[in-house]
Amino acid sequence: MNSTKLKRKGTALLSLLLLVTIGQGQEASLGHSKSAGSWIVENIILVIGLLVFLFAIWVISDIIRKMLEAQSRQLLEEKGIVAKSTSVMDEEVPLWKRINDWAWDLVPVSAEKSIDLGHDFDGIRELDNKLPPWWLGLMYGSMIFAVIYMYQYHWSGSGWSSENEYIAEMKAGDEIKNAYLDKMANAINENNVVALTDPEDLSAGAAVFKRNCAACHGVEGQGLVGPNLTDDYWLKGGGIKNVFETIKYGVPEKGMISWKSQLKPETMQQVASYILTLQGTSPPNPKAKEGELYIPE
Ligand code: HEC
Repeated sequence: MNSTKLKRKGTALLSLLLLVTIGQGQEASLGHSKSAGSWIVENIILVIGLLVFLFAIWVISDIIRKMLEAQSRQLLEEKGIVAKSTSVMDEEVPLWKRINDWAWDLVPVSAEKSIDLGHDFDGIRELDNKLPPWWLGLMYGSMIFAVIYMYQYHWSGSGWSSENEYIAEMKAGDEIKNAYLDKMANAINENNVVALTDPEDLSAGAAVFKRNCAACHGVEGQGLVGPNLTDDYWLKGGGIKNVFETIKYGVPEKGMISWKSQLKPETMQQVASYILTLQGTSPPNPKAKEGELYIPE
């Protein structure tokens, strides 16, 4: 009856899907920005929905076709153009049964003789049944899947390997971390700043000092145009908070610019911390004490 037709339709639908998948895969390999495979995974619900929708359309169109066929047959029979049919099978076999028949493709018991291999063990006979289509479908399906999978993950280079995923995730994580650190670093001000002791911070501060400050304060902080930063006398107050504030706002009327537009808060914290480590180093040719003796609270 209709099982061959059904089979043909099923195969057509499958091969269409396959073609679409492979076609998109090739498109991806041609260097388009986003791979079809990852699109399908990201929109899996949409894809499944689409498949269900296609299946529903197919079922409905099949039912309509059946109804039309039955009607035209009825008409032809009434007019006496064709003989009355005795078989009502087509109309009576429900869809699920036809799908089931197709999926198993069993030889009816009445025709078993044709596939009997002639081996008889205590009345149990060996039949040469074909592998059921549902099973074959699964097997071929997984073979095709394996090829597509291998292609996507290992050969296409479209960024789908676990290694690339790991790298991408680490990168995303780093971005979040850096954004957080930046935010924290920018939140440093003269009220909450603390002196850093980490050697890395101090050497970063030293580098900034050599580059931006040494011209006026001396390479060793002994003082030139600007005051000596190694003694415990301060014009603007010692301690991390005062030093940070002086650097941030500068003393424009005396020739020391405000650094807040050129140095990040974190950098100003580093250079301020570095300056505090110069206390008591007594480099050669120091500039005379200026300001007042600073006694920390
Ligand atoms: C163009 C020269 C110049 C440069 C460059 C300069 N300063 Fe100064 N700085 C001065 C002068 C002049 C003063 C003294 C201001 C005053 O008399 O009140 C001063 C004061 C200071 C003080 C206060 C000292 C105290 O005794 O209270 C600190 C701290 C300081 N500078 C740090 C820095 C740092 C850090 C840099 C680099 C980022 C820097 N300065 C760059 C000229 C400079």
